Amino acid sequence: MNIEDASERDLPEIIVIYNDAIANSTAVFSDQPVTVERQRAWLNARLSAGHPVIVARLDGAVVGFASYGEFRPWPGYRRTVEHSVYVLRSRRRQGIGRRLVGELLDRATRAGMHAVVAGVDAENQASLRMHEQLGFVQVGRMPEVARKFDRWLDLVLLQITL
Ligand SMILES: CC(C)(COP(=O)(O)OP(=O)(O)OC[C@H]1O[C@@H](n2cnc3c(N)ncnc32)[C@H](O)[C@@H]1OP(=O)(O)O)[C@@H](O)C(=O)NCCC(=O)NCCS
Repeated sequence: MNIEDASERDLPEIIVIYNDAIANSTAVFSDQPVTVERQRAWLNARLSAGHPVIVARLDGAVVGFASYGEFRPWPGYRRTVEHSVYVLRSRRRQGIGRRLVGELLDRATRAGMHAVVAGVDAENQASLRMHEQLGFVQVGRMPEVARKFDRWLDLVLLQITL
């Protein structure tokens, strides 16, 4: 498996992974599927801000993607970023998420970032465990700040200081 910079040609595979998470999980607090056009705008915004968008590629196919971006839009937060990571359902629990986030942490360090934040649904044990395995610590829990599938969801904030 290779970890590579994402490009526009990866967008159709990226949106299959992302739209599965939107439709079938609480990993994303949205129920609106994304289009290639919307994801192209997201990719280009991230890249023009100097932030990474990376893919995991296995036998030529995209099996996961990850990225980080601005945490909050005030100058004091410029060395803190918030990331996200998604792995193709059929390829989970094979170390791909860990590799992707590990690569993001390396890039954040090289870019002079100081803190990396993840916002995770409190029920998402896979994500919580993976982040803790990588050295993230839980720094907050916001009860019932989101709603999906007709129920309230808690947001857990995890952070690693580089
Ligand atoms: C969360 C996610 C990215 C993890 O990626 P992954 O490639 O499946 O995870 P890895 O194989 O790298 O697992 C790393 C560690 O996380 C933990 N973990 C992963 N999946 C787990 C699960 N289903 N249950 C419990 N722990 C799990 C384990 O500690 C694992 O290490 P181990 O296999 O050596 O025990 C993946 O499950 C996913 O894409 N989920 C849907 C989208 C999502 O939740 N994204 C994160 C939003 S914040």
